[in-house]
Amino acid sequence: MVSERLINALNDQYNFELYSAHIYIAMAAYFEEQDLEGFANFFKVQEQEERFHASKFYTYIAEKNGRIKVEGIPTPENEYDSILDVFKKALEHEHKVTARIYNLMNIAMEEKEHATVSFLKWFVDEQTEEEATFNKIIKKLERIKDDPNGIYMLDAELAQRVFTPPVNTNA
Ligand SMILES: [Fe+2]
Ligand SMILES: [Fe+2]
Repeated sequence: MVSERLINALNDQYNFELYSAHIYIAMAAYFEEQDLEGFANFFKVQEQEERFHASKFYTYIAEKNGRIKVEGIPTPENEYDSILDVFKKALEHEHKVTARIYNLMNIAMEEKEHATVSFLKWFVDEQTEEEATFNKIIKKLERIKDDPNGIYMLDAELAQRVFTPPVNTNA
């Protein structure tokens, strides 16, 4: 049985994933206004990913007979200084998420809750990918600086991103 403490912590993360989705769609909207459709697309896909993460927590909590509690979502930041500012803040947010996933894993390990440890492993790996994705784009942006051609090319590249839910997951 999963303890109430662990169910509550998983439920917190369910709500935090929805908050992440909220942040990323606000970032998409920022790019939409600037007609940077590729950047907007990147964050729209990112929003879908976060909703997918939330649904994984939802399904898992329900499977373990826990009660899901949906909470209010805080207002995200809507204004940013630059393209780079957006990506730096996104990476900062992902660092927070990683720390939260590690904390959840610590609780699950402490309670010897093997099923939850196994469930959370997917998220540990996912966070490595999330951080790498944002780091890579930050590096490109730092190289491009304000070169309009570089921005145009990166926008075209990010327009290609599509959401593909991973197979073999228990969402
Ligand atoms: Fe996430
Ligand atoms: Fe994420």
